[in-house]
Amino acid sequence: MSKEYRFPEGFWWGSATSAVQIEGAADEDGKGMNVWDYWYQKEPNRFFNGIGSQVTSDFYHRYKEDIKLMKELGHNSFRFSISWSRLIPGGTGKVNEKAVEFYNNVINELLENGIEPFATLFHFDMPIEMQNIGGFENRKVVEYFAEYAKTCFELFGDRVKRWITFNEPIVPVLGGYLYNFHYPDIVDFKRAVQFGYGTVLASARAIEEFKKLKINDAKIGIVLNLSPVYPRSNHPADLKAAELADLFHNRSFLDPSVKGEYPKELVEVLKAYNHLPEYKEEDLELIKDNTVQYLGVNYYQPLRVKAKENMPNPYGVFTPNWFYDEYIMPGRRMNPYRGWEIYEKGIYDLLKRIKDEYGNIECFISENGMGVEGEERFIKDGIIQDDYRIEFIKEHLKWVHKAIEEGCNVKGYHVWTFMDNWSWLNAYKNRYGLVAIDLKTQKRTIKKSGYWFKEVAENNGFVD
Ligand code: BG6
Repeated sequence: MSKEYRFPEGFWWGSATSAVQIEGAADEDGKGMNVWDYWYQKEPNRFFNGIGSQVTSDFYHRYKEDIKLMKELGHNSFRFSISWSRLIPGGTGKVNEKAVEFYNNVINELLENGIEPFATLFHFDMPIEMQNIGGFENRKVVEYFAEYAKTCFELFGDRVKRWITFNEPIVPVLGGYLYNFHYPDIVDFKRAVQFGYGTVLASARAIEEFKKLKINDAKIGIVLNLSPVYPRSNHPADLKAAELADLFHNRSFLDPSVKGEYPKELVEVLKAYNHLPEYKEEDLELIKDNTVQYLGVNYYQPLRVKAKENMPNPYGVFTPNWFYDEYIMPGRRMNPYRGWEIYEKGIYDLLKRIKDEYGNIECFISENGMGVEGEERFIKDGIIQDDYRIEFIKEHLKWVHKAIEEGCNVKGYHVWTFMDNWSWLNAYKNRYGLVAIDLKTQKRTIKKSGYWFKEVAENNGFVD
């Protein structure tokens, strides 16, 4: 029997992107260098097929065409990020007028097309000069970030009503300081903790600046990549492992951002291993007073966890994985391309938890999507027939719908992503877009999922 899935009036339908992944024009019009430009120059072979962020979908020059296409796909909202190194080359000092012009054009074009702009201030792209002095480990950088944020609010705050301080702040911590998939590509738990702590401070400082400006009807939030953590069994050792994984992966940013304080259990673990960050008493007040006004949830996959089977090497590097093992649950469905489990109910479990444990704060699904390698083989009649992606989005949406029916305060759904984009070390390996891109000709072609998404957005739901 079919069922109708209608979403609340005014639901945000759209997609998310980030500056580095779509803009291109990496050294045009006075843009400074960020960590990705630098790392690629240093080690091009670390990137899939040797492709760096210079090769993208060229949104910098084609934003008009792309925004038109967004409108065609039923978008009423769109998340992009502002590039710090484009707006303020070097991270501090003079504002680049060409960048102001570009972001003004993008924002105006979106609004003219009836698309609400969601602007992220930081999506993994630290200016290299800031990274060279320690990034968010350094309090000066925290302050430079607050200045940059203030500049953005002043320049664009008359039109941008939805701000995001950070996208997935835990990713540069894990990638850059523990697991070698972001720059500075080192392994050092103490520095990881300090960088993560500095990010929380930077987010709070940006919120503080935002509130001072008293911009009418605007809100500021954060986007977190949350994963529900499922223990292998109810055995106390598995339960403990899951609790610790949740502390590191979810609560380390969720609690300070929404509740204004760190979980005491996390503080205890870090203290026990002598890995508390350096902090000042007044920081805790800053965090307490500057919580987010709404929350973006990026959901891709759950975290399945079991008790550690072998004791970690006490002389080895300390990482969160000292406390638990991740595992793939036999029989679970996997996305064979990205190696991530597909578990749609996870999105519902997260939303319910936000309702029950985080005061039902206003939230939206800020990223959800399916990355697939070699999609050309699914082309028929000139279109990528990505039924797997339609299925993926639809099944997740059903769970989002159920969460809303049960009182969760969910305002929208943004798919990752609008068009196939460059993705960090993976470059163009996995394609996520509703729109395919030919990197040689820059031609955009809507995929089957794009047409499907348009229908859903325009009807504010679907029947299945
Ligand atoms: C999210 C990020 O983690 O996942 C995006 O916000 C990223 O920037 C996306 O591209 C998909 O991840 P990946 O590594 O498969 O491209």
